[in-house]
Amino acid sequence: MAEPTYTRRGAFAYGDLVQLTDAKGKLYTITLVEGKSFHTHRGAIDHDAIVGLPQGSVLMGSGGAAFLALKPLLDDFVLSMPRGAAVIYPKDSARIVGLAGLGPGSRVAEAGVGSGALTCSLLRAVGPTGHVYSYERREEFAAVATKNVDRWFGTIPEHWTLALGDLADTLDERGLDAVILDMLAPWECLAAVAASLAPGGVLVGYVATTTQMSKLVEFMRVSGDWTEPRAEESLIRTWHLDGLSVRPDHRMIGHSGFLVAARRLAPGAVLPTRRRRPAPGAYGEDYTGPGAATEPGAILEHAVELAVEPAVEHAGTTESG
Ligand SMILES: C[S@@+](CC[C@H](N)C(=O)[O-])C[C@H]1O[C@@H](n2cnc3c(N)ncnc32)[C@H](O)[C@@H]1O
Repeated sequence: MAEPTYTRRGAFAYGDLVQLTDAKGKLYTITLVEGKSFHTHRGAIDHDAIVGLPQGSVLMGSGGAAFLALKPLLDDFVLSMPRGAAVIYPKDSARIVGLAGLGPGSRVAEAGVGSGALTCSLLRAVGPTGHVYSYERREEFAAVATKNVDRWFGTIPEHWTLALGDLADTLDERGLDAVILDMLAPWECLAAVAASLAPGGVLVGYVATTTQMSKLVEFMRVSGDWTEPRAEESLIRTWHLDGLSVRPDHRMIGHSGFLVAARRLAPGAVLPTRRRRPAPGAYGEDYTGPGAATEPGAILEHAVELAVEPAVEHAGTTESG
């Protein structure tokens, strides 16, 4: 079996992925095959003409248009690869690898696999001495992800296991270093994830909306299995660079998702009581998460437990200790 490709150094050879960029910045990703040609409305380029060239070469298509040839970075590949489900953007994949503390040898599970974008980052981070266990409940998405992983690494890495099914029912690995959830209802998988993580292991949830984020965090708190969750989002603003016209680009990706992370407590450990009062109304009548009050005006039981310190009035401000 071929070795997975982790680095893409050197001149172009048959079998390599090549990223061709036209003058407008449009990217085309091809695999070099002897005797084949790449066609666009701007002309054709023979694959044979690319083989042997160093990366960073510029080629002329038959229609006179120029194309820059490079081996793609994973960031580029993810944005141009075929998609089944929406992918996790490179900026978020990079952050997930950091938040989850992944490195060579780590064992991590993820669900769902979707198009396999995050999978490629996880496989690369943990390397052949680690393992990635991916779960996907839709067969057609698992097939798209498999093709994308195969194309990126040039083979299916031996340290990848893809299982078809719902993570909540099928996650049977134990002692994992991290689990990453990218799905509509991650709170439904919390018990399975808690059972599979080693004490201190990291759960990272990627959710698209604030309502999902709130529900995930509240279910985590109520379970008592996790350290206090932290939440974040990242925005990347690219810049226009043209002489003295140096300013942020007008367009940006304004939203991708929120990341929620927490660590698995040791079995039986009880987190020290949080010394912070919930914001007024945080668990009031409109709150519908786990343990929501059924009586109008009643306050959630666990919110009362969190509010250990009586509020102290200081010249018009409220201090929570
Ligand atoms: C947004 S996509 C994941 C994208 C993927 N992370 C990527 O970067 O390409 C969400 C996927 O989760 C799958 N899914 C949802 N709930 C699941 C569950 N409980 N177990 C396994 N897969 C699930 C869906 O079928 C869908 O393919």
